[in-house]
Parts: sequence; C-alpha cells; structure tokens
Amino acid sequence: PSVTFSADNARVTAELPTGEAVEVLLHGATVLRWRDGAGRERLWLSEAAAVDGSRAVRGGVPVVFPVFGTAPDHPQAGRLPQHGFARTSRWEFLGKSTSESAADLSVKLDFGLSSAAEGLDPTAAPLWPFRFNLIYSVTLSRESLTTSIVVTNDDDKAFDCQVLMHTYLRVGDIAAVEITGLDGASYVDKVDGAKTKTESSAPLTITGETDRVYTPAGDGSSPVSVVENGKTTFSVTRENLGNVVVWNPWAEKAAGMADFAPRDGFKNMVCIEPGAVGGWQSVEPGDAFEGAQTITLPQ
Ligand code: BG6
Repeated sequence: PSVTFSADNARVTAELPTGEAVEVLLHGATVLRWRDGAGRERLWLSEAAAVDGSRAVRGGVPVVFPVFGTAPDHPQAGRLPQHGFARTSRWEFLGKSTSESAADLSVKLDFGLSSAAEGLDPTAAPLWPFRFNLIYSVTLSRESLTTSIVVTNDDDKAFDCQVLMHTYLRVGDIAAVEITGLDGASYVDKVDGAKTKTESSAPLTITGETDRVYTPAGDGSSPVSVVENGKTTFSVTRENLGNVVVWNPWAEKAAGMADFAPRDGFKNMVCIEPGAVGGWQSVEPGDAFEGAQTITLPQ
C-alpha cells in the first residue's frame, strides 16, 4: 500500500496495489473520497464542498464531536455550533500502518486532535473548556472502510460528549434504494417535531426529507444495509455506537445549502451516520470512549 500527500500537505491518500483508495483532508480529518477496486467512487462529495478549510466539508465523512446538532440546554455543550468543532479543525497526521499479506491487504491512517492542538477551530473549540485527546483512524481494505475514534479525557473533571461519523454514501438513484436492518428500531423523527416512533418491518425507502435518529436493537454487529435495485451495495456495522442517523435533505433543503451541488445531488446520496448521540457519553478523567463503523462492500 502507498501513502502520499498532496503538494500543499492538506490531504493524504492511501492506495492499495489493487486500486482501492481513500483520500483524507486534514481539515476535519474528513474522508473525501473512497474508491473501490472497480474504480468507482463510493462516497458522495458535493461539487461545491469547501475543501480549503474555510468550513466543514459537505460530503465524504465529516467527524461530529463533541455535540451532534446543537444542545442549547446542555451546561457543557450548549454554546457549541452545530456538530461541534472536530469537522472544522485541522487534524494532525500521526502515521500509517500497513498489512501487505494478500489475504489481508490494508492500510490504516491515524489522525490526532487535542485540546492543545494548533489546528483547533479558533472560534468553536474554546467554547468547550476541557482537555481532551482524539485519535481517529481510517482503515482501507479491499472490501471495506473502517473509521474509528478514541476520545480520551485528559482533564481533571468529567465531560459529556457525543460522537458521530456523518457518512455520505453515494447511490445511483435514491428512488431505487431501500435501507434494511432498521426494522422495529425506535427513532426520533427530526422532520416531525422530534416525535419518537417505531420503524415498521418493511425496508425504509426515502421519498422526501428524512432526518431520523435510530436506536437499533443489538450491539451493531448486524448491519444496516443499503440495497439498490435489489442488490446490497453497502453494509454498515458498528462498535460501541448505539445510534444510526439516516439523513437526506431532499430538494428544498438541498437548495437552501450553498455548498450542496449539483442541486439534484440529493438523489445520489444517503447519509447513514453511526454515532453515540442518543444521550451523552460521560467520560471520566483519564478514561476514554471508543467507537467505530465498518462499511463493507458486498463482493
Ligand atoms: C444530520 C442531522 O446528521 O446532519 C441533520 O441529523 C443536519 O439535522 C445534517 O441537517 C447536516 O448538518 P450540517 O450542519 O452539515 O448542515
């Protein structure tokens, strides 16, 4: 596997000799692109996404920390902007590790962000007054992409946080998509007044603005899958991330986002976002919270 930097050192690309590749922008440690072995891009990235560090990236896999959405009433996180500051801070590249064996060809990229980092978003990060350390790892193998995070509390007091991986999956046509693995799960419907509902046993289809925080039963090892025209195209499993947000802005909301392009791009994406966002993770001094998602491409 090879690991290369862009000329301006703003991006790092890892590639397997078999052609799979992943590109990560240090701004936000945002995975921008994931190319499969057939040369297809598997993530949706807005054509108008800011990749110059001026704002969060619209597309790819932004990292949400330490708050999901906003939490105006929360004593610690109440002043933070939507989705926190991890996605608007410049992370440090910590290194790579590779596995060269044919049976397990993979490359892992590690990124770090701490409360002492120079790259912290200067406007948002100071609104969350804790010493912390984040390690975010992106592992590319032939059939999957794994992103994992370790949040360590380096402070002498506990903090509350939420973590989420805001994955924009690329689909051919949202009208042909079904999402399975959510049947019977309870969810909060953010489009319908944050009402709590229960998903039916039928696969979920997306036919309008969708913004739901699911709490599937089980430990995350049984996948939430994207099925397109009857064929599974992504299977998402989770470790220690109890929630899955399903989001599609649909036409009107997409039109209202300056960085969302093309206008009808909502037809080619669905966000399946594993996270720990249903409540708060209280992390004690010296303790850590860990969570991960793996997106597998059925062969
Ligand atoms: C989703 C939220 O995770 O992110 C939505 O559930 C939100 O409510 C969406 O609109 C996009 O957020 P942002 O800040 O990237 O526009």
